[in-house]
Amino acid sequence: MMLHFDDLTAGRERIAVIGLGYVGLPLAVALAGHFPVIGFDISSARIQGLQGGHDRTGEVEDAALAAASITFSCRDEDLTSARLLIVAVPTPIDLHRNPDLSPIQKASALVGKRLTQGAVVVYESTVYPGVTEDICVPILEQTSGLVFARDFTVGYSPERINPGDKTHTVENIVKVVSGSTPQTLELLADVYGSIIAAGVHRASSIKVAEAAKVIENTQRDLNIALMNELALIFDRLGIDTFEVLEAAGTKWNFLPFRPGLVGGHCIGVDPYYLTYKAQEVGYHPEVILAGRRINDGMGKYIAEKTVKMLIRAGSRVNGARVGIFGLTFKENVPDLRNTRVVDIRNELEEYGIRVLVHDPLADAGEAMEEYGLALTSFDNMRDLDAAVFAVSHKDYVALDSIELRSHFAHPDKAIILDIKGIWEKKQIISAGYSYWRL
Ligand SMILES: NC(=O)c1ccc[n+]([C@@H]2O[C@H](COP(=O)([O-])OP(=O)(O)OC[C@H]3O[C@@H](n4cnc5c(N)ncnc54)[C@H](O)[C@@H]3O)[C@@H](O)[C@H]2O)c1
Repeated sequence: MMLHFDDLTAGRERIAVIGLGYVGLPLAVALAGHFPVIGFDISSARIQGLQGGHDRTGEVEDAALAAASITFSCRDEDLTSARLLIVAVPTPIDLHRNPDLSPIQKASALVGKRLTQGAVVVYESTVYPGVTEDICVPILEQTSGLVFARDFTVGYSPERINPGDKTHTVENIVKVVSGSTPQTLELLADVYGSIIAAGVHRASSIKVAEAAKVIENTQRDLNIALMNELALIFDRLGIDTFEVLEAAGTKWNFLPFRPGLVGGHCIGVDPYYLTYKAQEVGYHPEVILAGRRINDGMGKYIAEKTVKMLIRAGSRVNGARVGIFGLTFKENVPDLRNTRVVDIRNELEEYGIRVLVHDPLADAGEAMEEYGLALTSFDNMRDLDAAVFAVSHKDYVALDSIELRSHFAHPDKAIILDIKGIWEKKQIISAGYSYWRL
């Protein structure tokens, strides 16, 4: 029996969201405003946290979570009662920068075990073209004993949220939807259409939708790589990149990208999904991988710049104390995944520099577990020879440059490296700092 939209709106059928992270939880909350929803995660700690009424990612406010009627569960048998199953599990890369499909494969096996006749399985995770149909569908068939197209169908609808961004939320970003049959496509257009005010875009096939998502982030990665390359050139020429971009930005079609560290588990990771698939079909991508190399080298460059500035200020390098302000992969989120700030730290330590790292939002336990890094409290960021402002958290933007002087060992030789351009250049220089921005 086919799954009908009316049965979902009438509450006779349920939706399950599998994987309740940055993507899955906001989606589950939005869907719960219209349909009965089961929120499933393999992490019992995550389920306990959500049952306790708090989202540690900060994407969903406590009040919104309390208002959402979601059955949270980490028991996969509970998935049997849902016939629309939406998978939003991580798609990371491994140590060799190849796609690590194990979470999506495991989630497919888990869903397959609980799959019933007429079910629709939708993937939201970022993948390369072909993962849904060529990798996930066979797992679903094998573990369910059901036959694809006859007993169940699939869809793909990529997520485009931007962690920490309260403007571009799940409800107001156009959602690309695709399905293995025209009926599935229409069902998904109706389901997503009921929660997304911005509307849906029907892609012509699942592979088109998969490719669209992966190139969105690849394009962004490459645009930032170009800005980083320009910053490397202008630094050698003694020109302020920020000022160049400000001037160039007055042209109507100059895109407003900025140089910086590219971390997180999307922009710095997704291009590798595309390049992996490209190589599999005999094409060796050059531009995409060149961009990745430039972006991955920025942490080392910033560390080397710090060392040069220490030497120029007459400070010793070996044994210097450098404070890094900000560890998360971007501003105003606690997300530490694939943060490239650690590259700055690692490179500085190679010079025998004592590095102290502060972050107002990062979880200290996670910083230790993931990077072997003990966070320092703001008050203990003292006796510094240089400060690297790596992330533009609100707390840092609000700092007073005069008060900050007390954090330096020798206020007359204080150095600031400003990766995100959070300080007013003229002001910080007239306050007596040696200043550099990317
Ligand atoms: N975070 C973003 O901004 C963003 C934006 C767009 C797309 N994406 C993509 O969405 C996907 C999910 O990303 P995320 O940021 O929500 O990840 P996340 O790490 O925040 O959350 C994933 C959740 O899935 C759970 N999980 C892992 N394996 C599971 C399994 N086998 N079964 C059930 N649950 C499982 C984890 O416990 C975790 O709670 C990824 O493919 C990512 O590339 C992320």
